[in-house]
Amino acid sequence: MNVAVQAPPLWQLLQHTGAAVQAVLAGKSLTAQLDAVPAALRPGVQALSFQVMRQLGQARALRALLAPRKPSPAVDALLCSALALAWNEAEAPYPGHTLVSQAVEAARRQRQTQAQAGFINACLRRFLREREALLAQTQSDPQAHWNHPAWWVERLRTDHPQHWQTLLEQAQKAAPMTVRVNLQRASVAQYQQRLQAAGLPPGLAVGPCGLQLQQALPVQQLPGFGQGDVSVQDAAAQLAAPLLLQGLPARPGMRILDACAAPGGKTGHLLEMQPDAQVLALEIDGKRCERIHQNLQRLGVRAEVRQADAGQPQAWWDGHPFDAILLDAPCTASGIGRRHPDVRWLRRPDDSQQLARTQAMLLDRLWPLLAPGGRLLYCTCSVFKSEGEAVIQAFLQRNTQARLRPSPGHLLPGTRPAPGSVGDNGLGEHDWFYYALLEKDAPGP
Ligand SMILES: C[S@@+](CC[C@H](N)C(=O)[O-])C[C@H]1O[C@@H](n2cnc3c(N)ncnc32)[C@H](O)[C@@H]1O
Repeated sequence: MNVAVQAPPLWQLLQHTGAAVQAVLAGKSLTAQLDAVPAALRPGVQALSFQVMRQLGQARALRALLAPRKPSPAVDALLCSALALAWNEAEAPYPGHTLVSQAVEAARRQRQTQAQAGFINACLRRFLREREALLAQTQSDPQAHWNHPAWWVERLRTDHPQHWQTLLEQAQKAAPMTVRVNLQRASVAQYQQRLQAAGLPPGLAVGPCGLQLQQALPVQQLPGFGQGDVSVQDAAAQLAAPLLLQGLPARPGMRILDACAAPGGKTGHLLEMQPDAQVLALEIDGKRCERIHQNLQRLGVRAEVRQADAGQPQAWWDGHPFDAILLDAPCTASGIGRRHPDVRWLRRPDDSQQLARTQAMLLDRLWPLLAPGGRLLYCTCSVFKSEGEAVIQAFLQRNTQARLRPSPGHLLPGTRPAPGSVGDNGLGEHDWFYYALLEKDAPGP
């Protein structure tokens, strides 16, 4: 029997997109909203809501012109979604009149927006008629121009005076899918051959074990994914394990603490590099501990996984010092905006300072657990200096036993790596991380 699969109607996708946007504007993560969307609609809703998140600054500025009195949250979200998808004719996924009629249909067919379907229709039709004049009125608004909150634009300008515009432009693009080849099983070149044998493009080698794929694809299509031959991991995240382990004398049973471990991407990489190490992987969130177990099981490696607060070592530390500590600290995630375009709308201006206090506290509590001569790698996927350089400079001032080893510092796009510096440098196609490698002085003779 030939069963034709019908594409879902656009109005239905727009209803879910509007609901997702409303949730983000109320402070909830887009990932959680998308997980709740029926599977048949999810790819379409994800594509639309990602585009809306990337164009929401412009859309909100237009909505404020079209409807100076802010409508209800559901109407506002649907109206902004349609405007975000329609304003840039060159990149609009559908013709303007289709978007308008389907947005109005979406409004009519749900209780929260039904009564305002005519209002949405009037706003959107006026936008189509007066597009150029309305867009011209938003030009001086940084939030509309950059599609990021104005405070975020200002912070990037202050933190990265050379790169802030590139960062904001890059944040509007989709990130590539990058994988880490398990070098215990195959070389990068061998895995490229496996990809080609499976009829897939070979990808571009990045770093010692990375491959940037030409096109994103479901993980099940990656040869050997289920057996742990390969893992999905951004190129910047792939730097953590080598940075921490290279230069440390490897010995069976070396003790490594991964203090903030879920979902276990870096834990797995540490164990691929040091299969005999004793790794303790801590995670405060019980549900996320499950993700670590799943990842390690797939890779066929072992670690002790504990649900615990890294900031309370008295509750979990056995008193034996660690040779290496990875502190991949909780942060604003401002450096992964290409993969999570909702983050910019979720954060508040003082989040970064609050998180910096937590980051400093975690560093202070974990440092005493490090053996003399041992190394601690501090990292965040934040592009803000308050969560990177500032945390480390303050830590170094309080700790005379700590030495900063050559570290990448803030990894930004489009700049050259400068080994040994802690300033702005980077490799290109990767998320924007901060890395600082600290070493504890060994006792004198
Ligand atoms: C940036 S993510 C870690 C990503 C992970 N290292 C990887 O590569 O897959 C930070 C993690 O730290 C956890 N976390 C936050 N505060 C913590 C704490 N006090 N103790 C332990 N884990 C914590 C969060 O729940 C989150 O899963």
